[in-house]
Amino acid sequence: MSYGFALKGDICFSDGPASLKTLPGGYIVCLDGLCAGAWERLPERYAGLPLLDYSGKLVIPGLADLHTHAPQYAFRGAGMDLELLEWLDAHVFPEESKYSDLGYADRAYTIFADALRRGPNTRACVFATVHAPATMLLMDKLEASGLVTFVGKVNMDRNGPYPLREESAAKSAEDTVRWAEECLNRRYRNTRPILTPRFIPSCSDELMRLLKEIQARYGLPLQSHLSENQSECDWVSELCPGSATYGDAYASFGLFGGGVPTVMAHCVQSGDREIALMKRNGVYVAHCPQSNTNLVSGIAPARKFLKNGLKAGLGSDVAGGCHTSIFRAMSDAIQASKLYWRLVDQGCRPLSIEEAFYLGTVGGGSFFGKAGAFEEGFEFDAVIIDESGTPSPSPLGMKERLARAIYLSSDCGVIAKFVRGSKIL
Ligand code: GUN
Ligand code: FE
Repeated sequence: MSYGFALKGDICFSDGPASLKTLPGGYIVCLDGLCAGAWERLPERYAGLPLLDYSGKLVIPGLADLHTHAPQYAFRGAGMDLELLEWLDAHVFPEESKYSDLGYADRAYTIFADALRRGPNTRACVFATVHAPATMLLMDKLEASGLVTFVGKVNMDRNGPYPLREESAAKSAEDTVRWAEECLNRRYRNTRPILTPRFIPSCSDELMRLLKEIQARYGLPLQSHLSENQSECDWVSELCPGSATYGDAYASFGLFGGGVPTVMAHCVQSGDREIALMKRNGVYVAHCPQSNTNLVSGIAPARKFLKNGLKAGLGSDVAGGCHTSIFRAMSDAIQASKLYWRLVDQGCRPLSIEEAFYLGTVGGGSFFGKAGAFEEGFEFDAVIIDESGTPSPSPLGMKERLARAIYLSSDCGVIAKFVRGSKIL
């Protein structure tokens, strides 16, 4: 059965890594969940479709969060006075330990899924915790929300506190296999499993070898952390003396892209050699500027990622970052890139509005397939923005309105939201 509709509004999307297509009073058409195109005037052949009229409203593609932690949503904004490794021990691990309790997980994940549904993001790569039952519960809730997500049961069998730390590599792998099987059984439409070794310091060599086997058997993509903080990088050098870079440590287990969709968060400390390996292996960067500031990790070289043609998107990294909205990640990315240019390398000019918008839409969206733009054949994710909280005494152009939505994101709500052609808000 086929269904479709046309949608009218002030349409704005990326039509290249540094360019913006704007269609004030334009039209987009959705047919069977896919975008048929975007036009100034509705083509005659679609004149019979139902019309959703959002005239005067800003209409953009859904935003993609390439890196977030669902169990950390509960303590956003608290305990932001530590660096990464101390913060993990003091705040993250104690909070994540609570997810062995399904009642707690139910309450916390209901709040998380609802917040995500109401915001401007339509897609996300999500870390859960080591607990398979609570991870399934999160996946059920995200599926019910209508959002499109990759969700990972976390693996960690060393250097964390018991009982959060899994008792052995074999047990961690066993639980991961059972969880992957259960995901297949539930036949989700929008929710897919992703392998999630927390980071190298959390995973023994034996566990990484077992995860590679699981990846090959189930064809799972992978998400993890890479080169976030200097002390972490020094630790990885000690743990993996044979690896020239942190990325090489993942690669030594066959877990660094190369035909398998892989996304690595942060890459603040990534040097030319690591960036070259990411490029060669098609590894995505999830650039998480707010978290990098909050945890004093540093300024990621976003311009270098773009110059080198890396696949890249933005991440909230909740609770390293406090805000789920990828609008906020866009403005943080621009601001961080200005500091990098001023303080670190004047050869790396700041990101533009167009580039930040690209990263937060198509850049990250491409990890999910054809998503993040109103191009023909792309999955139809659209967000209608409420600008009533940011009134202006004079008329604004489309780019100015988009820039304000990005910079004033906390004042801009979402009136309606479509994911794969279904209205979820
Ligand atoms: N590295 C390993 N675990 C984490 C985490 O939970 N958050 C962040 N920001 N970095 C990590
Ligand atoms: Fe993270």
